[in-house]
Amino acid sequence: MPTSDHLHHVLDTDIPIFYPIDGIFDPLNLSEILYSLEGKNEIPSKYMYFGKGLENWSDRSIKSKEELVNFRQNNFGKQYDLMNETLNLVLGAASEKNMLNVVDVGPGTGYPVFPILSYLKEKKKLSKYITVDIVEEMCDLAIKNLTDIDILSKIKTQKYIHDFEYGHFANLMLKERKEGCVNLFVFMGSTLSNLVDRHRALANIRDSMTAGDLLWVGIPLHSNLKELMSFYEKTEINSKKYLDRCKLFTSFLESFGMNEWMNYGRIGVKEFEDTGLLKYNFIVEKSFILEFPKSGKSTGPIQLKYQEGDKITLCRLKNYEDQDLVAEFREAGFKLKMLNVSDDYRYALVLVSV
Ligand SMILES: C[S@@+](CC[C@H](N)C(=O)[O-])C[C@H]1O[C@@H](n2cnc3c(N)ncnc32)[C@H](O)[C@@H]1O
Repeated sequence: MPTSDHLHHVLDTDIPIFYPIDGIFDPLNLSEILYSLEGKNEIPSKYMYFGKGLENWSDRSIKSKEELVNFRQNNFGKQYDLMNETLNLVLGAASEKNMLNVVDVGPGTGYPVFPILSYLKEKKKLSKYITVDIVEEMCDLAIKNLTDIDILSKIKTQKYIHDFEYGHFANLMLKERKEGCVNLFVFMGSTLSNLVDRHRALANIRDSMTAGDLLWVGIPLHSNLKELMSFYEKTEINSKKYLDRCKLFTSFLESFGMNEWMNYGRIGVKEFEDTGLLKYNFIVEKSFILEFPKSGKSTGPIQLKYQEGDKITLCRLKNYEDQDLVAEFREAGFKLKMLNVSDDYRYALVLVSV
């Protein structure tokens, strides 16, 4: 466990202190990060995408339309194949009488929704492409990438900067309300599986949906856990291959100025077989301090001191069994419309309504 030093008395001077880089996090973010670290030893996954996280995600994700279509090795490929196999069922029924807004919740590079936009555009059923992300630059990147490959010509776009773990965004969707138009929310790329409180995020999205709207979610399944664990068990922890896979998870440390994070620890992957959960932990090997600005009634900055053996969970990934997947959506108040699973049982697409 980290030890906190709210009084800011003089700490061992030879322990390096890292501070949040100016302009990356706002006070609300910093309060959540501090309480999450103190209370749970975990960084909410959204903070991987701030600062250098945008570049790190772009490096790791689909980088072009060609890559989306041709690269079949990982879950991006499985998501693409499943989408293509079921597009006509999902979109045909939804757009029979209506135009559709595609609401990309956590769009990343935007490329993963290309098949949806392309299908709707061809049928002249695409009304608007709307992005909702906590990182403004992520919305800009998705809209730019999709504009560059010409899929958004003559299509209106909108970006909304919003944290879907913090609250619903019915107010934003109300602004987009239009006669004869329904919303297809897409929540792809295993984003749901990375969240600490998945139920809360699902409830917030549910409360941003109205009658006729649909939500389509990409989800890794239990066989994915086995595949991932076999990679991490077989691969040398300091090898380029291992570090490349983990690059995104360390963005948070870089946002605190720890560019040379490998001098202070390593990334260990822990599996919780019974719940299908995977945790990516930063295992501390050399002491350091994370310092948060003074706030409220504290007399000085708040310092968290880490030492050898401490752990910070930088990311988690829930890999579902079908029964807990169905239960999770039902408990969050959704009606299940369709469930499609890849042949190798690694990935699923779930379609629900309110
Ligand atoms: C795993 S990426 C998925 C990107 C894309 N949907 C795909 O299929 O590749 C997660 C995306 O969700 C955004 N995100 C994560 N947590 C968020 C939150 N709490 N509120 C809003 N956006 C969030 C990230 O900034 C990023 O764009």
